[in-house]
Amino acid sequence: MRVILGLIAAIGAEACMRERTLQTHHHSHVKRQDANATFPPVLDANEQILLDSFDNTSISTWSYYYTHGDHIAGRNRTMAQWTADRWAEYGFSSRLDEYYVYLNYPVSHSLLLTYPNGSTFTPSLQEAILPEDETTGYPNRIPTFHGYSFSGNASAEYVYVGRGQQVDFNRLKALGVQLEGKIALAKYGGPFRGLKVKNAQEHGMIGAVIFSDPSDDGNITEAKGVVAYPNGPARNPTTVQRGSVQFLSIYPGDPTTPGYTSKEDSPRADKSNSVPHIPSLPISWVDAQPILEALNGFGTVGVEVNRTGWVGAIPGVNYSTGDGSGATLSLSNVMEDDITPIWDVIGIINGTNQDEVVLVGNHRDAWIVGGAADPNSGSAVLIELAKAFGKLSETGWKPTRTIVLCSWDAEEYGLVGSTEWVEEYIPWLKTAAVTYFNIDVAVSGPIPDIAATPDLHAISSSLMKKIVWPYRGTTNRTMYDVWTEEVGGEIGVLGSGSDYTSFLHRGIASIDMGAGGGPTDPIYHYHSNYDSYHWMATFGDPGFHTHKAIGQYLTLLLYHMVSDASLPLEPADYTSELKTYLAELNETIATANGTLELSELTSAIDVFKTSAEEFNTLRALAIDTNDTELLAVTNHKARDFSRGFTSQGGLPGREFFQNLIFAPGLDTGYAPVTLPGITESITFQNNFTLAQEFVGKTADAILVAAAILKT
Ligand SMILES: *[C@@H]1O[C@H](CO)[C@@H](O)[C@H](O)[C@H]1NC(C)=O
Ligand SMILES: *[C@@H]1O[C@H](CO)[C@@H](O)[C@H](O)[C@H]1NC(C)=O
Ligand SMILES: *[C@@H]1O[C@H](CO)[C@@H](O)[C@H](O)[C@H]1NC(C)=O
Ligand SMILES: *[C@@H]1O[C@H](CO)[C@@H](O)[C@H](O)[C@H]1NC(C)=O
Ligand SMILES: *[C@@H]1O[C@H](CO)[C@@H](O)[C@H](O)[C@H]1NC(C)=O
Ligand SMILES: *[C@@H]1O[C@H](CO)[C@@H](O)[C@H](O)[C@H]1NC(C)=O
Ligand SMILES: *[C@@H]1O[C@H](CO)[C@@H](O)[C@H](O)[C@H]1NC(C)=O
Ligand SMILES: *[C@@H]1O[C@H](CO)[C@@H](O)[C@H](O)[C@H]1NC(C)=O
Ligand SMILES: *[C@@H]1O[C@H](CO)[C@@H](O)[C@H](O)[C@H]1NC(C)=O
Ligand SMILES: *[C@@H]1O[C@H](CO)[C@@H](O)[C@H](O)[C@H]1NC(C)=O
Ligand SMILES: *[C@@H]1O[C@H](CO)[C@@H](O)[C@H](O)[C@H]1NC(C)=O
Ligand SMILES: *[C@@H]1O[C@H](CO)[C@@H](O)[C@H](O)[C@H]1NC(C)=O
Repeated sequence: MRVILGLIAAIGAEACMRERTLQTHHHSHVKRQDANATFPPVLDANEQILLDSFDNTSISTWSYYYTHGDHIAGRNRTMAQWTADRWAEYGFSSRLDEYYVYLNYPVSHSLLLTYPNGSTFTPSLQEAILPEDETTGYPNRIPTFHGYSFSGNASAEYVYVGRGQQVDFNRLKALGVQLEGKIALAKYGGPFRGLKVKNAQEHGMIGAVIFSDPSDDGNITEAKGVVAYPNGPARNPTTVQRGSVQFLSIYPGDPTTPGYTSKEDSPRADKSNSVPHIPSLPISWVDAQPILEALNGFGTVGVEVNRTGWVGAIPGVNYSTGDGSGATLSLSNVMEDDITPIWDVIGIINGTNQDEVVLVGNHRDAWIVGGAADPNSGSAVLIELAKAFGKLSETGWKPTRTIVLCSWDAEEYGLVGSTEWVEEYIPWLKTAAVTYFNIDVAVSGPIPDIAATPDLHAISSSLMKKIVWPYRGTTNRTMYDVWTEEVGGEIGVLGSGSDYTSFLHRGIASIDMGAGGGPTDPIYHYHSNYDSYHWMATFGDPGFHTHKAIGQYLTLLLYHMVSDASLPLEPADYTSELKTYLAELNETIATANGTLELSELTSAIDVFKTSAEEFNTLRALAIDTNDTELLAVTNHKARDFSRGFTSQGGLPGREFFQNLIFAPGLDTGYAPVTLPGITESITFQNNFTLAQEFVGKTADAILVAAAILKT
């Protein structure tokens, strides 16, 4: 399902662990386009130097480097050092931070379908090698597998479980389908894949097979006459989506060191709460076709199941549940477990105010030799950004605030590199971090897409007016114009699926950005060998112009965040967002036929509103009088107030997730839930006592934030 909810759902994912996003919370920040807007945009001298430094051809050179070697997590220290060397050339003091983490790598796998009559079908479990696309045929190309999957065999009848959400399993139980002892056949899309495996495991199933489905591609399909990659923009039918099966919504990071840093001699905890103990494999839709076909006519036919996203678009398949088919699957998955080094690259330019730090991060590891979109479009952009700041530094410019560039390793397995790093540096980050900017899939299509904490909404939308955004052949529109026209100028709420997660859940203002495809754009082959340099140069971003534009945007954001005398954060913008979340909570309560006493929350939001207004008054005075001491006071308040939104104990059953305003859904993993402690106590546990407790905790958190802002 490419298009599901709202406008932005039409856009591809920009975050690496994320698939198609289902963001329900988007609020428009668009005012009517300024009558006086000039084109090209007017820039000051420093902005001009920064943006002029960007060169599409040099970006393509960085992209080419990153996409022609194995760089799965923990396997390419050379690439980490190369990244550090590039940043160092441009003036960043750069180093590698090493962690010893649990990872596993594929050794062998097999899958066999046995029909009731005893004949068999053997899926290839491989993506086709394409002569046009050299990295698809590299001898060291990465097999199809699931990161953090369980080594084991399973042989049993199998049942189609839709997208594998808890509601899908509930529906199967209501239909009387026996799940215990069976293998789950699940469709990609919707929740994070690890949660599909978790749900299957919790229902007593003994293995899981997850397939891609062309229904995710809307009208850009071979069935609708569109030619497939490499000759056209449709999905290559052999595409397999690799990816982690960690239980992302419970605990990201190294599963063997929950809450502390993974050093070589760190004690290792039991990991069974955050990774599966049943084996799983990903397959392509061509491999899935016979497996699904064998279920036709058994159990409940797909349309009768009445579940969103249940029926896909594979020809000849009716997506029956399949109980009683008599067909069986034999699955084998062998992984090698390792505690192995990974390397985060850290590049720093000290600011004059070292107690104010702005971080920019992208992960470097990919599931495949390529990774031209995920994540190395972001990696290429980050080098070009470093180059631009190098140019500006040549004029004698120095940042007021410290800049920290981060190239994370092992994001793909479960945000491992960033989580371990935050666990190590949390005392410093809690006191000094102003914002974290994340760029994962910088480019998988032409449409800009951002999600951010509310205090970053104003600056992140206004700076779009300064960027020329090349779009479908036109060169006379700004990023803001395209964003307004294509996605209604809506800024998403942060859920999870990329490296901002650890920062956000320690109360640090964050933004996640990228550009993705709409319903008419070429299909981006997420976590597949076809996410390659050749695909990017031919279909994703020919000419690398979108790379350049999104890189210029990130550069301007960083420039203003590190050099504006008054920090461009707007705490007061939380007020209206909080009110929206509260109204949504009210609906959740009504739908569940429950009652909750919300007055504590309502008055906390009122207190926040008053404090934020007082803050604005004080800040205006600081700016008007150019009072350096007063500016330092207001800047520190803007830096610190969102720490208040976090709670030490975290959310029910998942203490890692401390932010009480937004979190990834427990059963979505990617998509956000607002006021999550209260909301999910209702939607998951139907426990109004617990929900009432979290009304108190959430109100307290908002009051702490208000107290930090108060003057
Ligand atoms: C447009 O320009 C006029 C004259 O310079 C100014 O008065 C007005 O405020 C501007 N409008 C906007 C929306 O910036
Ligand atoms: C590391 O990545 C680089 C650049 O893509 C590549 O040239 C090199 O072969 C890779 N190293 C290994 C060990 O695969
Ligand atoms: C066994 O069943 C499958 C699926 O219905 C069918 O394609 C195949 O021809 C059958 N084989 C034999 C030997 O009957
Ligand atoms: C597919 O094309 C049909 C007919 O033009 C159109 O109505 C529909 O909205 C399109 N679907 C998507 C997902 O773009
Ligand atoms: C699905 O819903 C339709 C009406 O919406 C109903 O007629 C049908 O019985 C339902 N199917 C099942 C299996 O419950
Ligand atoms: C930045 O400042 C820290 C101390 O705050 C110092 O240890 C470090 O050497 C400085 N780095 C550079 C590149 O000047
Ligand atoms: C932008 O250029 C196109 C032609 O490429 C033209 O049709 C259009 O009117 C221009 N738009 C503006 C706002 O100048
Ligand atoms: C960069 O852009 C120029 C101008 O559009 C184009 O000619 C060139 O091919 C682009 N470079 C790459 C590597 O695509
Ligand atoms: C919640 O809904 C009730 C009615 O169901 C209404 O009286 C109350 O004002 C609403 N509160 C909020 C915060 O929207
Ligand atoms: C709430 O009440 C309505 C009407 O009585 C009922 O249809 C619905 O199923 C109830 N919802 C829940 C979650 O209990
Ligand atoms: C504000 O004060 C600082 C430090 O005293 C000075 O460098 C700067 O030029 C002043 N800015 C304005 C707008 O007066
Ligand atoms: C609901 O939550 C409360 C408070 O945490 C807890 O004491 C109680 O056992 C929970 N009830 C159920 C049915 O789980």
